[in-house]
Amino acid sequence: MRSHYCGVVDAALIDSEVTLCGWVHKRRDHGGVIFIDLRDREGLVQVVVDPDTAEIFSIAEQVRNEFVLQISGRVRNRPAGTTNPELRTGEIEVLAKELKVLNAADTPPFQLDDDDVQEETRMRYRYVDLRRPAMQKRMRLRSTVTQKLREALNDQNFLDVETPILTRATPEGARDYLVPSRTHQGEFFALPQSPQLFKQILMMSGIDRYYQFARCFRDEDLRADRQPEFSQLDIEMSFVEEKDVMQTTERMMRELFSSELDVELPDPFPTMTYAEAMLRYGSDKPDLRIDLELIELSEELKSVEFKVFSGPAQDPNGRVAALHVPDGARLTRREIDNYTEFVGRYGAKGLAYIKCNDVAAGKAGLQSPIVKNIDDEALANIVSRTGAKDGDLIFFGAGEGTMVSESLGALRIKIGQDLDLVAEGWRPLWVVDFPMFEWDGREKRWSALHHPFTAPSTDLETLRENPGQALSRAYDMVLNGTELGGGSIRIHDATMQQAVLDLLGIGEEEAQDKFGFLLDALRYGAPPHGGIAFGIDRLVMLMAGAATIRDVMAFPKTQSASCLLTNAPGNVSERQMRELGLRARKPPAAEPA
Ligand code: AMO
Ligand code: AMP
Repeated sequence: MRSHYCGVVDAALIDSEVTLCGWVHKRRDHGGVIFIDLRDREGLVQVVVDPDTAEIFSIAEQVRNEFVLQISGRVRNRPAGTTNPELRTGEIEVLAKELKVLNAADTPPFQLDDDDVQEETRMRYRYVDLRRPAMQKRMRLRSTVTQKLREALNDQNFLDVETPILTRATPEGARDYLVPSRTHQGEFFALPQSPQLFKQILMMSGIDRYYQFARCFRDEDLRADRQPEFSQLDIEMSFVEEKDVMQTTERMMRELFSSELDVELPDPFPTMTYAEAMLRYGSDKPDLRIDLELIELSEELKSVEFKVFSGPAQDPNGRVAALHVPDGARLTRREIDNYTEFVGRYGAKGLAYIKCNDVAAGKAGLQSPIVKNIDDEALANIVSRTGAKDGDLIFFGAGEGTMVSESLGALRIKIGQDLDLVAEGWRPLWVVDFPMFEWDGREKRWSALHHPFTAPSTDLETLRENPGQALSRAYDMVLNGTELGGGSIRIHDATMQQAVLDLLGIGEEEAQDKFGFLLDALRYGAPPHGGIAFGIDRLVMLMAGAATIRDVMAFPKTQSASCLLTNAPGNVSERQMRELGLRARKPPAAEPA
């Protein structure tokens, strides 16, 4: 139906006849001449309809935005002074000889060049939203990224293997999406939270190197970088150690960034232990673009009068740390109150601060609600340890260790953004030496920090003796404060696997029921293996400079996990329910007040 895409018609085609198809981006009537900006995937071209061609002129008068047209005409230079150097088509225009309306369009729900449209509206009319050049660009980047990654892995002899979507629960820490079985009434499939167990089984099947662009499903709280349904580039390799997986995949990322963004990522990526990341950045995914660090002060504040500090400083599970904000003394009372409220969301009971007005003047030069309760020596220590200068501000967090790290870590990011302290550029790193387990205080048991198939760095005996101290052979790839991917070397020994499941409170019977197939497979010749999975949505989000992964997904879901385009999830008929052996429970009666 067409000879060229609209967006590629340029001066090389002067005097040629072209046939174009696309959408009316804008129509302008100019003293008897009608200009139509016709748009397709590749861009815009200016079409001129002259009143001399009366028949098509009267059609052109009727067309409105987003009508679908087919136009044939001759390419000519735009008159001097009307060229647009921004566009590939900016030097030319197409003088229409034929014009056909392929389809009319209702007035679009929003203008395509309006950048301020509510996201709900964009999702409901996603087909209109996706026509916008910015979204077209993102979809295209996404397609290129997956293609490049595929090529890189194919070149290295990875095999693309598909794994089931209707499967059993895979423990990645979120709730499962369940699918009722008609043929086994009362039983359910779970949609995979990841292909974790299948890819391990593939290693036991001799596949050696596997990858898949795998759709994963997790019923969890949604955020800017979390969707209920998302894509992983899932990778597994046999006969490897950590460095093999890390080197293979960071090289792949380096090549991708180099070819697509002209960005040279470091070689190798720096590596940081989990302990150091928590200590210095209060996060297991530190954003290294922000040049602020947490400063440990537990030692310095052990014996101060101020109990809020000395208590946690003396407690082995406590932490007192500071965040030094250069030039922060200009923060207003109200801004500080807002930050106090912000850290409160992470469980912080307060946010003590010192404004350093005149450091040389000692206590008198420090403005703060707490200095009266801190002796001069400790104050001097705080100033020297933080390196605070006149005009700076020091925030303090005190309390349970993890809470202090996480709240100050989040504050570090927030202040970095608010005060414009985020440097340009790309700062990837590996975070390693994660703890094997974390203590779940509510359930009173250990839970796996990564997943239960991650190998410990210790032997079985040490692991059993002191699970809380054990580190795992897991690694996360972090880029600019986003966890891009995570993986580990796996347990390939049945005894070790059972022991780890035991520690997690999963007894032999439950283990057999849930992962019997894996435990069996481990006994029939399981090679040492390991792998990783990257969040493709997050990767493309970062590469596109988008604010959320929703902007790089064609059909994302809302914060409450629904699809506004199709109105999913939706009701099903009584008959379908009966076939499945299901009955809906009445919504629970309102709680008595
Ligand atoms: P993990 O749970 O860390 O590991 O997931 C790997 C990567 O997937 C991305 N990701 C998400 N992206 C969008 N929305 C979500 N809800 C979401 N959850 C995770 C992140 C994350 O780093 N089976 C293991 C991998 C392995 O051990 O090989 C796994 O799934 O970028
Ligand atoms: P208070 O003695 O409770 O009035 O607190 C004095 C100052 O210490 C206030 O600025 C509080 O925000 C701050 N503060 C209180 N508890 C903590 C805490 N756990 N960590 C950091 N600062 C705190």
